[in-house]
Amino acid sequence: MKRVGFIGWRGMVGSVLMQRMREENDFALVEPAFFSTSQKGGKGPDIGQETSSLKDAHDIDELKSMDILVSCQGGDYTSAIFPRLRQEGWKGYWIDAASTLRMGQDAIIILDPVNRPVIEQALHDGVKNYIGGNCTVSLMLMAVGGLFEEDMVEWMSAMTYQAASGAGAQNMRELLLQMGEAHRVAKNLLDDPAAGILDIDREVAGTLRNAGFPTENFGVPLAGSLIPWIDKDLGNGQTREEWKGQSETNKILGRSGQSIPVDGICVRVGAMRCHSQALTVKMKKDVPLDEIEDILAASNNWVRVIPNERESTLRELTPAAVTGKLTIPVGRLRKLAMGGEYLSAFTVGDQLLWGAAEPLRRMLRILVE
Ligand code: HSE
Repeated sequence: MKRVGFIGWRGMVGSVLMQRMREENDFALVEPAFFSTSQKGGKGPDIGQETSSLKDAHDIDELKSMDILVSCQGGDYTSAIFPRLRQEGWKGYWIDAASTLRMGQDAIIILDPVNRPVIEQALHDGVKNYIGGNCTVSLMLMAVGGLFEEDMVEWMSAMTYQAASGAGAQNMRELLLQMGEAHRVAKNLLDDPAAGILDIDREVAGTLRNAGFPTENFGVPLAGSLIPWIDKDLGNGQTREEWKGQSETNKILGRSGQSIPVDGICVRVGAMRCHSQALTVKMKKDVPLDEIEDILAASNNWVRVIPNERESTLRELTPAAVTGKLTIPVGRLRKLAMGGEYLSAFTVGDQLLWGAAEPLRRMLRILVE
């Protein structure tokens, strides 16, 4: 059995990874070891079987004794540890949730329901670094990868509605604190059926703008508002999150030639852990909608085409409906007024599952089965 070391298993993505691996009985296929940056000797996670005590995540020799390392520890850890491991001759497989190594020539972005042939070719070629993609990009490709596979896409615009979890666990907590605070200041008026809605709104707007409103993590209110900026400023008007749309999509698809343009505006909204996206696809030709729906529905086992009507959309195409699930609904499919080659779509996905943990555990399985 392969010796597999896990680093960063206690954090949000790591915890989801542990949960999914337990559910799928993945631990039965490997000899797991758990590392910690701060609690060497402590107790590992509950995985339904005995585990040895925690190893030191900075001990290069311990790390080197593993056949495979899976890190959800974050980019700083990857930057500090990964180059040293390779410099010291470690030849094992490195599976990572952080973006640090993603765009490297010697790394593959893993999303096997979409790019299994790219992964297989890389394994054949001896590539050792397999990195999880940006959550928004992975979720978009799980939804409409079929269109790319059929080479139907001339360009695509993705306008995103990204959940608090994408910014981190503390941000999820802050969103709830903000919601609570907005409710608290309006509560007395809300309890009074005769109170005017504009008076209620004035109270809420007042607290959102109050210096005491909890914004340490987001910097500004998200509850009762939104934030049309995610990640760093690239200096050309585009954010780093927006840049990833095109760069990562094309890398995942293994396109070495001309890139398919993918661009849009990435927006943080007050959802907990599901990212949503409104897509405009410029198709290479005018394909009938029913054919498009068939292609999407057949492209992987998790995508679900939702009829473009009100009741199904409200029931199945919202973050509240999708949270905690592996299914990837895609709906609002219709041809736009611009012409038969312009397709609209709306998709929702749990960014901690297909957006983070799931591709990692599936890559591990590809390596050990
Ligand atoms: N960058 C994403 C976000 C999360 O901020 O929502 C991880 O891919």
